Amino acid sequence: MSEPKIAQKSPIVQKVEPGTYYWCSCGQSKGQPFCDGSHKGTGFAPLKTEITEAKTVAWCGCKHTKNAPSCDGSHSGAGVNRQIVAALNREWSVGATVHDWRFEKSCAFAVGG
Ligand code: FES
Repeated sequence: MSEPKIAQKSPIVQKVEPGTYYWCSCGQSKGQPFCDGSHKGTGFAPLKTEITEAKTVAWCGCKHTKNAPSCDGSHSGAGVNRQIVAALNREWSVGATVHDWRFEKSCAFAVGG
């Protein structure tokens, strides 16, 4: 398999606690966004990610991000549901901290604790 399976065409937004996470890169896991071992034989491997503080993370669901494991908007090139993205942008713009996911590439899309 040369291309990962698109698990979903939108980010998987979760509040996460500090710890070690294994993001599924193949798209085959039944426990998205995390690896469940389904990648065996595909040539893909999970991406180990250390989260050091409690925060909200937008994990890539389409598996085509250039900023794994975070969503970078790549799903929009694969027929994204633009209404979902627009809704997320509106939701994330509320509050003291504003992170525009389209341009914030380095902070795993933290939007607060
Ligand atoms: S199940 Fe996808 S990388 Fe492990």
